[in-house]
Amino acid sequence: MKAAQKDLIVVGFSGFGKEVFWLANRLGLTVRGFLDDNPDVSKKSFGLATVLGGVMQWQDHADCDFVIAIGNPRIRKKVLEKMCSVGTPSFATLIDPAAVVMADHVSVGPGSVICAGSICTVEVDIGAHVIINLNCTVGHETRIDNFVTIAPMVAISGNVFIGACAEIGTGAAIRQGLTVNAGAMIGMGSVLTKNVAENTVVFGSPAKPIKTIVE
Ligand SMILES: CC(C)(COP(=O)(O)OP(=O)(O)OC[C@H]1O[C@@H](n2cnc3c(N)ncnc32)[C@H](O)[C@@H]1OP(=O)(O)O)[C@@H](O)C(=O)NCCC(=O)NCCS
Repeated sequence: MKAAQKDLIVVGFSGFGKEVFWLANRLGLTVRGFLDDNPDVSKKSFGLATVLGGVMQWQDHADCDFVIAIGNPRIRKKVLEKMCSVGTPSFATLIDPAAVVMADHVSVGPGSVICAGSICTVEVDIGAHVIINLNCTVGHETRIDNFVTIAPMVAISGNVFIGACAEIGTGAAIRQGLTVNAGAMIGMGSVLTKNVAENTVVFGSPAKPIKTIVE
């Protein structure tokens, strides 16, 4: 007998959280509610789902699956660490029905979200808690590490590696074979022709480093 589908809880009542609610609806999932530590959004609703409490309230809903819908990779990671400090929440992998991601050719880790219009081709490896927003393309043999955020309309060529917590801005294009090291930020509209060092912000065409992110 097939196990009953768990309800979903969306962590983060932001604009992206609401988009993930919409995605979950498109997948036919029941969203029990949102969790968010911001007191300003306490008890607010979107659709039929309400903010049920802060992040640590996940323990009251341990029968659910969770997804952390927070665009900033570093904050997403911190929220995950906070949740996991008291237990082992179960994370859903959400792939929009209008994304092209074939399980035979692409692996996707828990907690990751792939939005409508995105296409991942073959031998693509996507880690845990990754966000691939609307209308992106991910080429062959590309590896995307945990907590990466990819904004809408990004074109990633084949054989690219994107390190943990890196962020790729809207409409960026990444040449084949490049490495974007962990924690880097690629500005919107960038044309990336060279590897990017850890925690480095680059933008432009061709993209050039402008600063380092100090944690
Ligand atoms: C690259 C980026 C991180 C820089 O942010 P920042 O450090 O706060 O820089 P600022 O906004 O202060 O901009 C500094 C200068 O760079 C320019 N600039 C910023 N981003 C740029 C970009 N992507 N391409 C070209 N120029 C850019 C600004 O116009 C400004 O120019 P000025 O000094 O002549 O006025 C940011 O602009 C960016 O592109 N973020 C990604 C946004 C995104 O894709 N969001 C997705 C939401 S789903």
